Amino acid sequence: MKMKILAIESSCDETGVAIISDGALLANIVSTQIEMHQKYGGVMPEVASRLHAENIGVCLEAALEKAQVKLEEIDAFACTRGPGLIGALHVGLQACKTLAMLYQKPLIPVHHLAAHIYANEFVEPLKFPLLAVVVSGGNTELVYMKEHLHFEIIGETKDDAVGECYDKVARVLGLPYPGGLPIDKLAQVGTPTYDLPIPLNHDKGYDFSYSGLKTHVINLVHNAEQKGEQIDVANLAASFQKVAIGMIIDRVLKAVNDFPVAQVVLAGGVSANSYLRSELPLQLAKKNIPVIRPPMWCCTDQAAMIAKLAEHLYQEKIFANFDLGVDPNWQIDDYRKF
Ligand code: KG4
Repeated sequence: MKMKILAIESSCDETGVAIISDGALLANIVSTQIEMHQKYGGVMPEVASRLHAENIGVCLEAALEKAQVKLEEIDAFACTRGPGLIGALHVGLQACKTLAMLYQKPLIPVHHLAAHIYANEFVEPLKFPLLAVVVSGGNTELVYMKEHLHFEIIGETKDDAVGECYDKVARVLGLPYPGGLPIDKLAQVGTPTYDLPIPLNHDKGYDFSYSGLKTHVINLVHNAEQKGEQIDVANLAASFQKVAIGMIIDRVLKAVNDFPVAQVVLAGGVSANSYLRSELPLQLAKKNIPVIRPPMWCCTDQAAMIAKLAEHLYQEKIFANFDLGVDPNWQIDDYRKF
């Protein structure tokens, strides 16, 4: 009989439930709250938790119905334990614990960003050693994996995450939240005419910095407003994108020169970015290094990726007790510590 895992995601503003059976995705239900948060210009943590609590039951029912599976047939229950919003994470974990306790099955705590990396297994098997480019609204990291379930952070942001920077720049340009896609679309029709500073330009390492770039764009827009000058929004978006994504490409090129890398994988919300998805494979083709790009539905949060990683964790018997708590700041290299 095939092993079945039910997985829950609730780290931010998407409630997700997925069911996987020996690698085959039987259901992947996602309920997004984005419209509710748009009016605040960002995710309101309290509202997110309340909506997860309201939606989780419906998502569970829908997933079981879609997969044509009964709860009694599930072999293990997995959920995101962190990183994410504390109240939002609690909703998924409590639901997951209750199910695992009721059906006397293993409880599997899953690291959200590790799951974003493993989402690429829906495209093709991971090849090691691997370099994962983890770029989202809350994180910007280069993660080196010499084998399955071995995560080493070799570079990270010193301040803001790249997605957060996109969202803040979008706000000052009067674009809707989340700002990544609107900026990306404008950048594709604009020309990079604005001369923006390149953060950590002479840095030899693999770290990132986005707060200086963000402040520079905000000041540029405010100064122009004060002087009554017109901003060319498409050209500014193109200039910003070139620097923001250019920093990621630069760090990856440095890292693949310094470490043996068989494959580069993109992970997280910003891996939907058109420039990153086209330019990075072009640059790495010169070095014969393939790039896996997650399908667009995997760039946003969902539980399919939680289920995918949970299958590996199940094989390693990485199970938790029922006193498990969430960890909003869980580090990827601590994924066995809970
Ligand atoms: O992975 P995710 O949901 O973030 C966290 O869970 O932290 O990704 C959301 C982030 C947002 O900041 C959004 O603006 C950004 O990903 N994003 C993009 C694009 N699409 C989404 N950033 C740049 N280009 C895009 N096409």
